[in-house]
Amino acid sequence: MPPRPRAAQPCDAAALEALDAAVNPSPWGRRRFDTALDGERGLDEEVLVLEERGQLVGYIVFARVLDECSIYNVGVSGLCRRRGFGACLVDEALARLRERGCRRCLLEVRVSNRAARELYASRGFRPDGVRKNYYPGADGREDALLMSRELRNE
Ligand SMILES: CC(C)(COP(=O)(O)OP(=O)(O)OC[C@H]1O[C@@H](n2cnc3c(N)ncnc32)[C@H](O)[C@@H]1OP(=O)(O)O)[C@@H](O)C(=O)NCCC(=O)NCCS
Repeated sequence: MPPRPRAAQPCDAAALEALDAAVNPSPWGRRRFDTALDGERGLDEEVLVLEERGQLVGYIVFARVLDECSIYNVGVSGLCRRRGFGACLVDEALARLRERGCRRCLLEVRVSNRAARELYASRGFRPDGVRKNYYPGADGREDALLMSRELRNE
């Protein structure tokens, strides 16, 4: 059973930066996490984290825009994968967004990122477009797969 996600605090920024750098091919960096954690800046972003034995092992960043929302980033430590942590983070984010009146959730994912595509598909997201050459990649640019799901029926 995964641990329960909690809202990240500004003091989590260094651990978030380190975990993101370890799992994300395009790491966000400290300033981006500081911004996401700074409720004063009006971005309306939220960050949830999962801890195991005092270590931060998972995170998700999302934001609401009127009645839609987006998932911007999610990651789980390589040592903790395939234990339901990613699913738990997505489910908790969607539950919070649904409570706030969001009706649709959008995201984009590298077409080559099978683990993330399967994770999102397992949480009800379906492909609904491609953004060509969206991500920088090792061999030039890579397409983004756009995915979305409705939130109202649960
Ligand atoms: C994508 C990621 C967050 C998944 O985290 P996770 O904790 O391993 O995912 P879960 O254990 O909750 O998996 C839930 C479901 O997703 C799918 N899934 C997860 N990893 C998968 C993989 N490597 N291959 C195929 N399906 C996978 C499965 O359907 C899985 O259910 P199952 O284990 O019952 O088969 C993790 O692999 C990761 O951090 N990757 C690097 C960062 C990243 O790519 N983030 C996404 C940016 S858009």
